[in-house]
Amino acid sequence: MKKTTTIIVLALLCSAILGCVGVQQLQTMRGADVPEADQAPQDLAYQGKRPGELKLIERTFEGQPPLIPHAIANYDEITVTENPCIECHISNDFKGKKMPRVSNTHLVAIPTAADPEPVLHMNRWQCNSCHVPQVDAKPLVENSFQGRSAR
Ligand code: HEC
Ligand code: HEC
Repeated sequence: MKKTTTIIVLALLCSAILGCVGVQQLQTMRGADVPEADQAPQDLAYQGKRPGELKLIERTFEGQPPLIPHAIANYDEITVTENPCIECHISNDFKGKKMPRVSNTHLVAIPTAADPEPVLHMNRWQCNSCHVPQVDAKPLVENSFQGRSAR
């Protein structure tokens, strides 16, 4: 019994030592040692131009908030009282141009013939907490996700 315990203890010690020798230097994703200052990430420009010139970006899973295909840098910030996005997106038409209207999930009052004014639900006010523009960036880590269009 004693012998077996000694053998097990010795085996554990050996593997611990070998394990330590085999440890490799870790490569951090931020590319700098802990005490060093952070390297600012590369400043990438968002893709997209003026709305009305671009194709919608295909959705890759059901329930995905669609990605914004146009530039948004020129629009004012969304504030408590102002929202530059709803001007275009609250209806199918803005100044005679076709627009993708927010879906009914975003509304508290769905337009009807009697009352054609849609009313946005206030928990959808901050559009860019769900809808985001895109940059052409290399993924930080490899992944094998296969997108599937929900439409
Ligand atoms: C001047 C009108 C206008 C404004 C302002 C605007 N958009 Fe758009 N948006 C469009 C048009 C037109 C499209 C259709 C694609 C295209 O032509 O760019 C679109 C497409 C989109 C889509 C893709 C919809 C889908 O089904 O794939 C999203 C999401 C979106 N916009 C979000 C926003 C957000 C968020 C803001 C505010 C930061 C905003 N838009 C401001 C006109 C506008
Ligand atoms: C809480 C997250 C969230 C917020 C905030 C939000 N959306 Fe969405 N949006 C979604 C999701 C998820 C979808 C796709 C499913 C659906 O239609 O409900 C969507 C769909 C859309 C679509 C496509 C509609 C269609 O018929 O395919 C447009 C356009 C859009 N949103 C614009 C906006 C605008 C403009 C705002 C701000 C006023 C906004 N959204 C705020 C999550 C959000």
